Amino acid sequence: MISPESRDLHAPPFSEVERAAVYRAIEERRDVRAHFVADPVPEDVLLRVLAAAHHAPSVGFSQPWRFIVVRDRAKREAVHELFESANAEAARAYDAERAIAYRRLRLAGILDAPVNLCVVCDEDPARGKGLGRRTMPETARYSTVCAIQNLWLAARAEGLGVGWVSILEPQSLLRLFGVPQHYALVAYLCVGYVRYFSAEPDLERDRWESRLPLGDVIDYESFTIR
Ligand SMILES: Cc1cc2nc3c(=O)[nH]c(=O)nc-3n(C[C@H](O)[C@H](O)[C@H](O)COP(=O)(O)O)c2cc1C
Repeated sequence: MISPESRDLHAPPFSEVERAAVYRAIEERRDVRAHFVADPVPEDVLLRVLAAAHHAPSVGFSQPWRFIVVRDRAKREAVHELFESANAEAARAYDAERAIAYRRLRLAGILDAPVNLCVVCDEDPARGKGLGRRTMPETARYSTVCAIQNLWLAARAEGLGVGWVSILEPQSLLRLFGVPQHYALVAYLCVGYVRYFSAEPDLERDRWESRLPLGDVIDYESFTIR
């Protein structure tokens, strides 16, 4: 145990209010696909959430992420077309009844959200000098996902909704933004102010899936077959 006296005075403990705010952002973060409003996102707010992303942990401190800010309507329309085609294909892969339920879901807000972010990851970053990636090269992508989660939580605290769109063909999207070969697409995000944040995930409300009890995802000492 670190005694209170030996703690770094530059990092005092969180107050009760600060602690509650962190948990509140985590619990009230939502994936937002509908009810974006058209209000522009001020540059300083966008830079704050991007700075939160940039403070994420990264393997070897490699910071392999890159965020392409997309406001241009024509670009968003081109991405929306890619989404429509991938989404139609996804619907066809389900059997009849599930396909009907799938088609009813709202799964992207590319045109409604005033800002989109294309998040890509350097698959073999020079930064970090390979530390931590010898046995697990995929940790560069994991680092980028950590950055996205930081951004998602900071956005919630700013009153900004974020929706993650993965129903896209990655190579077509990367071509659209001129991304070099050694970068991978990690996420395409729709960002904007929202009318409200839902209390539960949209997929729970739409009875597509429900949250597992916490006990179902925790094991002690070894994996439990359930
Ligand atoms: C890697 C990843 C990809 C996702 N892709 C999509 C997507 O393409 N379309 C969509 O509507 N939601 C997408 N989501 C959002 C999830 O559906 C959502 O996180 C989940 O239903 C739980 O809801 P919540 O984020 O509001 O808690 C994605 C989330 C993650 C983490």
